Amino acid sequence: MLEWKENNVPYSAEFNDIYFSVDDGLAESKAVFLDGINAPEVWIGKNEFTICELGFGTGLNFLNCLKLWLKHSGEDQTLHYLATELYPLAWEEIQKAVHWPELSECKEAFLVNYPSTEMTLYDGRVKFRLLKGDSATELSKTNGIVDAWFLDGFAPSKNADMWSERVFAEMARLSRQGTMVTTFTAAGFVRRGLNEVGFTMSKRPGYGRKREMLNGEYHGS
Ligand SMILES: C[S@@+](CC[C@H](N)C(=O)[O-])C[C@H]1O[C@@H](n2cnc3c(N)ncnc32)[C@H](O)[C@@H]1O
Repeated sequence: MLEWKENNVPYSAEFNDIYFSVDDGLAESKAVFLDGINAPEVWIGKNEFTICELGFGTGLNFLNCLKLWLKHSGEDQTLHYLATELYPLAWEEIQKAVHWPELSECKEAFLVNYPSTEMTLYDGRVKFRLLKGDSATELSKTNGIVDAWFLDGFAPSKNADMWSERVFAEMARLSRQGTMVTTFTAAGFVRRGLNEVGFTMSKRPGYGRKREMLNGEYHGS
């Protein structure tokens, strides 16, 4: 069951964790995810760019990324955004949680279609697909190449299924040389697990109250 903290931040009692920072979820989303893959520079000159997010939640990261994509991409470029989610939120919950005026236009474009799990937005500049189910299972049924991963499960100590060897192995299978990964956590077993499947991981300063976080690139095993 979803509960609400200050600033419209959803909280999961089941996982005892919040969906994003109560201080400033939007700034956190930029610092951890968009900056973590060096967006928008990372997609300049690419006709197609595929991001896969593990833990779609409220869609905050997606909508923040969508806004940046629309500002910094050509009409001939397509963003493919895949996201896994085991417990999809209700329309009203997304509407309430993503409350930033600067995202309202993108949120409306998304919510007109939600809860459809596949949608084409902005005349084909963005293709979105929600993989409803457990991350490892959904990834095992997926093919193609991902250019960047956003890892946004609940804290690794509370949500082991999102940070398992199975998930890391599927990520490696779906990556190419140079595929990027970024996450809010600096947990040692996450860094080691991603290293083992071929990602070269680095620590960088964390956002807000977190001291460090990780990002990296796939170089093969
Ligand atoms: C920290 S929240 C995600 C926040 C989200 N990225 C946002 O922008 O609002 C973690 C998400 O992972 C989902 N989740 C938990 N276990 C999962 C699993 N095994 N597979 C897929 N999603 C899972 C939760 O339901 C929750 O939505």
